[in-house]
Amino acid sequence: GMAQTAEKYRPSFHFAPEKNWTNDPNGLVYLDGEYHIFYQYNPLGDTWGHMSWGHAVSKDLTHWEHLPLALPEFPNPDGKSETMIFSGSAVVDAGNKSGLCPSGTKDCLVAIYTGHIHAKGEELLQQQNLAFSADKGRTWQQYSGNPVLTLNTPTFRDPNVSWYEPEKKWVMAVAKPDKHQIYFYESPDLKKWNKTGEFGPQGDITKIWECPALFKAPVTNEKGKEKWVLLVSSGHRTPGYVGMQYFVGEFDGKTFRADKDNPNPGSPAFGNVLDWGKDFYAAIEFNHRPKSRPKPLILGWALNWEYAGKVPTSPFRGSMTLAREVSLKRTPGGLVLVQEPVLTGVRQETVEKLASVSLKDETKALPKATGDRLDISFTVDPAGGEAGLVLDKNGEQETILRVKSGSVELDRRHSGNVSFHKAFPSADAAPVGKGPVSVRVVRDASLLEIYLNGGEAVLTEHIFPEKPGEPVSLFGKGGKAVFKNVVVKQLR
Ligand code: FRU
Repeated sequence: GMAQTAEKYRPSFHFAPEKNWTNDPNGLVYLDGEYHIFYQYNPLGDTWGHMSWGHAVSKDLTHWEHLPLALPEFPNPDGKSETMIFSGSAVVDAGNKSGLCPSGTKDCLVAIYTGHIHAKGEELLQQQNLAFSADKGRTWQQYSGNPVLTLNTPTFRDPNVSWYEPEKKWVMAVAKPDKHQIYFYESPDLKKWNKTGEFGPQGDITKIWECPALFKAPVTNEKGKEKWVLLVSSGHRTPGYVGMQYFVGEFDGKTFRADKDNPNPGSPAFGNVLDWGKDFYAAIEFNHRPKSRPKPLILGWALNWEYAGKVPTSPFRGSMTLAREVSLKRTPGGLVLVQEPVLTGVRQETVEKLASVSLKDETKALPKATGDRLDISFTVDPAGGEAGLVLDKNGEQETILRVKSGSVELDRRHSGNVSFHKAFPSADAAPVGKGPVSVRVVRDASLLEIYLNGGEAVLTEHIFPEKPGEPVSLFGKGGKAVFKNVVVKQLR
């Protein structure tokens, strides 16, 4: 029946709501051994609407415990309009210095979100509001002094707030979507905000700009070096879709400037692509991560606005990517952002291991690599031809990962149910260097995260096979493809 159909697409070590709609992750924050995820949520249905903040917590970033709705949409005193809780962030105000929480509160959890005021379908105003919790996010109160920041415009949203240690103050990056700009503000107490700078338009301006995320990341091959990274949710290299770009540069506490030598892998006109797949958007970073995690952690929404409202996963719709550790790597072309998936707490069993396989116009099934929760890794040299993987082969149904010279492509055109929206079936490619490519595919039911060359390029996409989990096979076509260190793990 319907329920069963959808349940086969439910991820087990990625976050998804039990039922109903989600889009962006919000308020990612760590406090006292718990990672919190808040998320854009419609408590009343499986399409976008009544936007509120849902809430879940995790100790390991892979097993999520659902908690009650944190911030519901609320009616305004005028009796005519309502405030939806749009995207934003959460911070820990250690010692309750803001005074927002009751006196004596040790750690005051503060949400800084966009209040989206609407009436009868009309979008009236977007302004930045606060809510606070004195009990680690279990119960919340709206701040009576809201809004704390307004430009009296209907397009001003997604505040990304973090602590700026050199000047002991809060800083905010917030989007002016229609202007393709990010504005910067500073505050001593989260309540008063003062504008300090602007960034953009720059890079990809094919779509409005949303959901900025500003953080510092280590350059792993230059000892002690750190650079600032600005993520922006904006356009995709395939026109019509949304996607994310990143800028690397400097932030002086007031404004962000991108370095001139940013590499633009594959598409100079479109900024640096954060993820080459179609299902990655609105990623932000976790605030106050523990010392045991020296690299910033980001997590994104694993869908694309273009067809998100139609994916065949009801009663839930929408899920998040894994948390990813972010760092930078100096290359001849400039600094490249590197992402590595966090699988802490996921049980893994190695079911296939092959030191070396050569395939010339042949396919090799890996009989024990069955099931739809897998971690598949190998290095391959396509040797002038094509090489790769086939998933879910069943009659006409197949999902193909093709490594060619210079690019890796995921072809989901025949991946199963693709007919729910005409914008869904596609083959999407990420650029890679010539020669051998390292490939890692992390699969959790309908979600594929593909990490190339150690995470220098990533491609995230959903597939909805009618019958998932047939044995994986390797193939080589054209030249004599050489696979090395093939390892398949089943994940639970
Ligand atoms: C991005 C976004 C945000 C907004 C939220 C509303 O996907 O459009 O800009 O705050 O979704 O749900």
